[in-house]
Amino acid sequence: MSNTLQKNLDYKKFVIDSKLQYFKPHATKIEKTFSEEISSSLNRDLKFISPKFFYDKKGSDLFEKICSLPEYYPTRTEISILKKIQDELPSYIDKNFRLVELGSGTSVKTRLILDIFAKLEGTLEYFPIDISEILTESSEQLLQNYSRLHITGIIDTYEGGLEFLKTYDDKKNLILFLGSSFGNFFPNDGYEFLKKINFTMKPDDLFLIGLDLVKDRQILELAYDDSQGVTAEFNLNVLSRINDELDADFNLKNFTHHAIYNEEDQRIEMYLKSLVNQSVVISKSNLLLNLKKNELIHTEHSHKYRLPQINEILTSAGFEIKHTWLDDNKHFSLTLVSKN
Ligand code: AVI
Repeated sequence: MSNTLQKNLDYKKFVIDSKLQYFKPHATKIEKTFSEEISSSLNRDLKFISPKFFYDKKGSDLFEKICSLPEYYPTRTEISILKKIQDELPSYIDKNFRLVELGSGTSVKTRLILDIFAKLEGTLEYFPIDISEILTESSEQLLQNYSRLHITGIIDTYEGGLEFLKTYDDKKNLILFLGSSFGNFFPNDGYEFLKKINFTMKPDDLFLIGLDLVKDRQILELAYDDSQGVTAEFNLNVLSRINDELDADFNLKNFTHHAIYNEEDQRIEMYLKSLVNQSVVISKSNLLLNLKKNELIHTEHSHKYRLPQINEILTSAGFEIKHTWLDDNKHFSLTLVSKN
């Protein structure tokens, strides 16, 4: 394959056994990106930390915990839809498809789709793409339960993983992007990302996207500010990560979690609020950060959608809608599309 040389230069391959292999970009590439991004996103009036940095090992574990909180409805609702489509989805795929997942997600969701694939003949191929190494643990667990399963994990950003996939081979892909992770993009970036997925896809590929829907403000705000404080811990953990990896001295006691629904922009906005006037050194980013009391560091947007908006967003990015499924309360949606 013509791109093999290029891929080998960018990624290191780890073969665990005949059923499990990983590709990982060379470490310096990731470290440089983190330090550079933090340096520019915190060195401005409206300070910002990209939500992609939430997901170190501890952040990924905390996110798994969020997914089973009583207030956090998206995960269980999406699972209920995935259960509902067990009889319908098979009519769209065949044994020549491989399953690709952006963000390896909770294994419960992956399993529900793998169960559908397992009913087809042939090898069962799964390509999880995730920036976190948690992917390696979940892959090993999956292999214990699916005897015909082969896993190729890509430990990289979604964009990196998609580039990798584009040049990999000619097999048909069903690409999953679940959990309304798309809602964490700024709208323009989200649009560009969808176009990137569209560009990666071959004519017969399919894309299944889970998106959270607009609903009552109270339900939304409780989902992002839970009574056990797990979401607060998840939000604050990004500062611990910066402390550990970029040699910084954030004192977590000087910050609090703040989540609010912005009705006009249809999104939950998450912030870390500075409780005092303070200065923080981030050595590896070469930054002295001065924060005033009550100053906010923006950490996440989580957009919520109306059905006509979902159609509009997907069609404008070059997709053709095959089907949209909802739960009974119309809290969450799953949309299957192909390349137009
Ligand atoms: C990953 N993402 C879709 C979650 C969300 O709901 O926006 C992240 C999250 N942030 C706080 N709680 C969950």
